[in-house]
Amino acid sequence: MGIQWRDSLAIGVDAIDNQHKELLIHFDRLLEACQAGHGVEELKKLLTFLDEYVHTHFNDEEAIQRLNRYPGYETHRLEHKYFIEQLNKLKFEIQQEGVATHHVVETNNMLLKWLLNHISKVDMELGVFLKSGTP
Ligand SMILES: [Fe+2]
Repeated sequence: MGIQWRDSLAIGVDAIDNQHKELLIHFDRLLEACQAGHGVEELKKLLTFLDEYVHTHFNDEEAIQRLNRYPGYETHRLEHKYFIEQLNKLKFEIQQEGVATHHVVETNNMLLKWLLNHISKVDMELGVFLKSGTP
């Protein structure tokens, strides 16, 4: 069973929804690679992708929030900051130790939590606000 985009995750801004789809495609690739026994190689590719993605995506999402004077902006931004910190910690560990299977497991957990707690909840709240004009 993989990770798939579903329309209920849409926040209604195409640029952001497409970025979320892109992240889920990469996450799914990692899960498939794990099943096929080459998770470590795929993790390296995923981290290269995330390097640019997190900055572009979070900047775009935060810009939309500022533009719409979103009341949840500060808390939302802190979650983005926390994700980047976790990612940096992981990259630092890999730099020190080399990539190991436990890093693949940690990344899987990190992305799954991000999907369940951030994209499915915090980003959805933003979507509801943008659609209705209320938080
Ligand atoms: Fe977000």
